[in-house]
Amino acid sequence: MSTATSATNLEERAGALARRFAGVFGAEPDGVWCAPGRVNLIGEHTDYNNGFVLPFAIDRSALVAVRLRRPGQDPEADTDVVRLASTYAQKGLGLTRAEFSTGGLEPGLAADWAAYPAGVVYALAQHAGASVPGFDLLLDSTVPVGAGLSSSHAVEVAVIVALNDLLGLGLDRPGMARLTQYAENEFVGAPTGIMDQSASLMGAEGGALFLDCRSLDSEIVPLPLAEHGLSVLVMDTRVEHSHSDGGYSARRQSCERGAAALGAESLREVPADADLSGLDRQTQRRVRHILSENQRVLQVAQKLRDGAVDSIGELLTASHISLRDDFEVSCPELDLAVDAALAAGAMGARMTGGGFGGSAIALVRHDDEDAVRAGVLSAFADKGFREPALFTVLPADGAGHVQLTAPGRQ
Ligand code: GLA
Repeated sequence: MSTATSATNLEERAGALARRFAGVFGAEPDGVWCAPGRVNLIGEHTDYNNGFVLPFAIDRSALVAVRLRRPGQDPEADTDVVRLASTYAQKGLGLTRAEFSTGGLEPGLAADWAAYPAGVVYALAQHAGASVPGFDLLLDSTVPVGAGLSSSHAVEVAVIVALNDLLGLGLDRPGMARLTQYAENEFVGAPTGIMDQSASLMGAEGGALFLDCRSLDSEIVPLPLAEHGLSVLVMDTRVEHSHSDGGYSARRQSCERGAAALGAESLREVPADADLSGLDRQTQRRVRHILSENQRVLQVAQKLRDGAVDSIGELLTASHISLRDDFEVSCPELDLAVDAALAAGAMGARMTGGGFGGSAIALVRHDDEDAVRAGVLSAFADKGFREPALFTVLPADGAGHVQLTAPGRQ
C-alpha cells in the first residue's frame, strides 16, 4: 500500500465517521483522531522489566470523533456526562452505547470497552490534574479485537490525543504513554507495561520504535520491508487472551521476585551473564528469558540501523523459543503458526504481544508469502484448530489528528 493510498483511506474513514457522528449525536464533531495498533517485532515482556522493546505501529487503527460539551450551546452543557457510541464492539449489529460521568469516576464505574475512554479520563484527573468536561465520542476501529495487536491501547491513545488537543493540555508523547498505562493498570485492571501505548503514540511510517522502557528514550530505526521484498505476515490464531487474567501478572511477579533475589531494582540492572544458580529453576528460566531478550532487541535494532533487515530472522525465531520454553507464555496454536511458517520458508517467526493466544508474526520474502500462508492454513486444518486469520501489516505513523477533507465535513 502506498503512503498516498493509506492517507486517503484514513481521510475517507475519518470523513465517514464524522458524518455518522452528526447523525448519532445531532452535531458535528470537533475533530477526528486516529491511533494505530501495534506489532511487536521483538522485545517481549521486557517493558515492565525496564528493558528494551522494538514494536511498530501498524496500518490498522482506532478512530474517534469527539465533541466537547460547550456551556451555553448544549442542553446538557453543565453536566459532566460522556456519551459513547461504537460501530466497532459489535460489528454488523449496529451501535453499542455507553455513558459515564467524568466527576467522581472510580474503577468499576465503566465496563467493557467504555472502560478505555473512562480510564483515560480517570488517569488525566488522577495524574495530570486535568478535569475533563463531558463529551460525545463515536469510535470505529480496524484493529482486530483479542488478536494481541493492542486494540484496547489504540482506543485509549486515540482518546488521549483527542483530549490533549481539545483541552490544550500540552502533554508530550512519553507523558501520554505513561497516562494511558495508568488507565490500563489502575482503571481497566490489566498490569501491563508501556510498550503498546508508546508504539501507538510514537511509531513512524517505515520504521520500528526502539524504546528504552527505563528512560523512555526512543529512536525510530528503519524497517524498509517493501524495499527488501519482505512482508510481516500476522497469523492471528483467534485464541482470545486477556492480560487481566492470572498468567501475565504471574510472569510479572516472577520477574520482580527474580530481580529482588539478585539484589537489583529491576532485571534491567542485572548483567546478561549474571549467575542465576541461586534462583529456583522456574525463576531462573523467567529471568533468563528477560536477560537474553534484551540482548536480542539490541542486536535486531543494530541490524536495522545497519540496513540488514534480511538478517534478523534467526533472532526473531530465537525470541519465540525463549518465550515458549523459558517464559512459557506461548500456546499450541502460536507454536504451530511459528513452526508451519518456518517450514514453509519464512525467514523468522515468533509470537507477538503478551502471549497465551493472540497472534504470531512471520518475516517472509514476497515470493514465499503464498507458500507460507498455505502451509500455515493446512497445518491448522490438519490439527483441527480454528482457521487462523492471516494478513500483512506495514509500519505506520503514530497517533494524531486526522485532517478532514471537504466532503467529509458535509
Ligand atoms: C502486552 C502488554 C505489554 C507487554 C506485552 C509483552 O502487550 O500490554 O505492555 O508487556 O504484553 O511484551
